[in-house]
Amino acid sequence: MSITVNICYTGENGNARKFAEEMMQSGTVDKIRSEEGIPDKDKKFIVKQEETIMSKKLAAYFSASGVTAGLAKNLAEAAGADLYEIRPAVPYTNADLNWQDKNSRSSVEMKDKSFRPAIADTNANIADYDTIFVGFPIWWYVAPTIINTFLEAYDFSGKPIVLFATSGGSGMGNSAKELKLSVSDTAVIKEGKRFAANTTVSELKKWVESLGV
Ligand SMILES: Cc1cc2nc3c(=O)[nH]c(=O)nc-3n(C[C@H](O)[C@H](O)[C@H](O)COP(=O)(O)O)c2cc1C
Repeated sequence: MSITVNICYTGENGNARKFAEEMMQSGTVDKIRSEEGIPDKDKKFIVKQEETIMSKKLAAYFSASGVTAGLAKNLAEAAGADLYEIRPAVPYTNADLNWQDKNSRSSVEMKDKSFRPAIADTNANIADYDTIFVGFPIWWYVAPTIINTFLEAYDFSGKPIVLFATSGGSGMGNSAKELKLSVSDTAVIKEGKRFAANTTVSELKKWVESLGV
């Protein structure tokens, strides 16, 4: 869903600001933004029609041991997004997650990029959302392949997908590149960011605002 809003750009103080506030009260202007470069002494003001995306957002996440789940909860709060857990049909046990054991389930699965761990449900109602955040723990420097399973289970055409992750320290690596293979050409995967587990709601809010989604 998108709506058009009238925005009045003014300096922070002074007459232009006052005028903008009056226009806001009268309903001519929906938002006031201060903009550097418009001096307060300048009585001029600019009203612009802007397309503002009032997008409905979903924060979908997979979390094997709870860390990404915590971050996703904060992100959902920061973005005003609904929360959805991507659950494996067969949950990962501690033994499954042992990356030091080359025969553990996660080691075996992650060695085969074409392997798609089954998901427990396909109830995410992706069609209802404009922007989808997709979160995961970094496994072997990329997204776990259950994220490919998730992306392949729905139609993301025309939708921005913003990735977020937690890890022991690694960045996003080739996650976006590998996940692109699992969505249609018109879905836009944004690389997003790896966050520390204790990232606050207000830090996440700043990040979401910087994305313009
Ligand atoms: C199989 C496996 C592979 C991992 N690979 C990496 C890695 O390559 N780099 C890294 O920094 N952390 C790695 N980690 C650590 C996790 O990314 C980290 O603990 C994460 O925050 C766990 O999130 P979760 O509790 O949501 O599952 C790995 C963990 C597991 C279980």
